[in-house]
Order: sequence, then C-alpha cells, then structure tokens
Amino acid sequence: MTSFNEKTAFITGGASGIGLGMAKAFLNAGANVAIGDINEEQLLIAEKELKTISENVISLKIDTTDTSTLRSASTKIGDSFGHLHYLCNNAGIPGGSKILETPEERWRLVHEVNFMGPLNGINLFLPQMLEHGEPGHIVNTSSFSGIHGHGNQSAYGSSKFALVGMSEFLRNDLKDTNVSVSVLCPHVVDTNIISKLKARVSGDVLEMINQMAVDPSIVGDQVLNAIIEKEFYIFCDGIHTREMLKARCDAMLSAMDRQFPEEKND
Ligand SMILES: NC(=O)c1ccc[n+]([C@@H]2O[C@H](COP(=O)([O-])OP(=O)(O)OC[C@H]3O[C@@H](n4cnc5c(N)ncnc54)[C@H](O)[C@@H]3O)[C@@H](O)[C@H]2O)c1
Repeated sequence: MTSFNEKTAFITGGASGIGLGMAKAFLNAGANVAIGDINEEQLLIAEKELKTISENVISLKIDTTDTSTLRSASTKIGDSFGHLHYLCNNAGIPGGSKILETPEERWRLVHEVNFMGPLNGINLFLPQMLEHGEPGHIVNTSSFSGIHGHGNQSAYGSSKFALVGMSEFLRNDLKDTNVSVSVLCPHVVDTNIISKLKARVSGDVLEMINQMAVDPSIVGDQVLNAIIEKEFYIFCDGIHTREMLKARCDAMLSAMDRQFPEEKND
C-alpha cells in the first residue's frame, strides 16, 4: 500500500483550481507539498489556506516555460524536504477557437505552456527521481479535450492531445523503473477556467456546465487514488465523457473495418 507520509510532491499551477485540490489531497495524506505558480498573489493565498491542513508546505514562484525558475524551485524543494517523489505537471492555460480564427502567437503560447511546460518539468525532475530510486509518480494534467476533439478548441485541444501522447511514450520509457506516470483528463472542473466560461453563457448551457462540473478537491482525491492504483488514464467523470470516448473508439474501429474488411472476419 502506497504511503504518502514523508514523501514530497511538487505541483505546478498549484495556487488555484485543480492544482490546489491536489495539494490539499497530498497534505491530507501526510505528504510534504511544494506548490509552484506564476501568480504570486494567488500563491500566498493558497499557501495560507494549505497551512491550515499542515505546516509541511512551501510556495514557489515559477514559470513552467522558464527552466531557470524550475531549477531554482528544485533546489528549494531539496533544501526544504529532500527527495521529490511526485511531480504534477498541472499548470495550463485555455485558448483557441476555430483554427483559422486563432492567432499564431496564441498557438505558440498555449503549446509553450500546456505542452513544453510539462516537458520542462519532466526533463528537470525525472533524472533526479530515477537517481534516488525511491518509488515516484508523474501526473500530467491534460484534458478530455486531449482524448476527444469536441468543439472548437484548436490550440488548447491540440496541446492537450500532444500531452496525452507524450505521457503514453513516457509510460513506455519508464516501464522498468520505479517511477510511474498518469495523465489526468478532466472534462469540466469547477475552477477559474470554468468560472470564466460560465460568465459567457446562460440558460441550458449554463445548467449543463453546472451539472457536469466536478469539485477540484474531488479531482485531488482521484489523483491520489490513481497513484495508489497505478492507473494511467485518470478521468474525472464517466457520464458525458463515456459517450465521447465510445464515439471516438467506434469511429476509428469502423474506419479500420471499412478499409480492411477481411481482417474483421479473421
Ligand atoms: N477546469 C477544467 O474544467 C479543466 C478541464 C480540463 C483540463 N484542465 C486543466 O487543468 C489544469 C489546471 O487548470 P484549472 O482549471 O485548475 O485552472 P486555474 O486557472 O484555476 O489553474 C491554473 C494555474 O496555473 C497557473 N499557471 C498558468 N500558467 C503558468 C505557468 N506558465 N507557470 C506556472 N503556473 C502557471 C495559473 O496561475 C493558475 O494558478 C490546466 O492544465 C487545465 O488545462 C482544466
């Protein structure tokens, strides 16, 4: 049974929303927690809130697209808590509408934060996690938009698809090691990103979002459970997402059946 006692977690984008939900879950389970975020003001508010659970928390100003800030976070985490066991590459930004309506700078920024950010975290922290040899786990926060291409989310959705893909390759790379990996694929979680969306809609759409929205603290518990169970794909609900997943898998299988009908009957 996994024990989180005296283990250390680093969560990027940990000052709010899903990252903060994960931080609470790790602290409640007895781990040391470092939250990293680009938003200094929100970091201080989050640290204060987390300290009501445990004193074993530090907050670090980082920008996941700037590796020098991750290097300095690594040193501070080592000085405060020793080895790192859990890396949660969670910081992300929304962005992108239809492909032709999304400016190139937005494409680059969204991919820089949502894809290169997690890659920077892996490149910096994974070597030390492998070297100390204690069991570890990496959680990359993607999205259900990285599993199924619904809506018009061009830059955002494609960055999240890339992160699911990278996580699958990372799983292969880590097969014979003490470090495992999960990819978190939330659909709708009640955080800042969703509050902004809710402010733009009304009526049935608003009601539907409210029905689908999962509380970030529930997502935090789902993440810890996935670490314990070594579950690779972490889904946050199984209602609307189940239909979309089934539609994607059915579409791919039926395309293969059409193109290679003889294999179907083998
Ligand atoms: N809320 C949802 O419904 C939902 C659904 C699917 C995926 N996600 C993903 O979950 C993750 C967390 O989002 P959230 O909903 O909690 O939103 P949020 O805005 O509450 O949290 C994101 C945090 O990341 C921080 N951040 C942004 N860019 C950063 C950077 N370059 N370096 C460090 N920190 C940075 C922000 O300051 C913020 O505190 C994101 O990757 C998001 O894409 C969220």
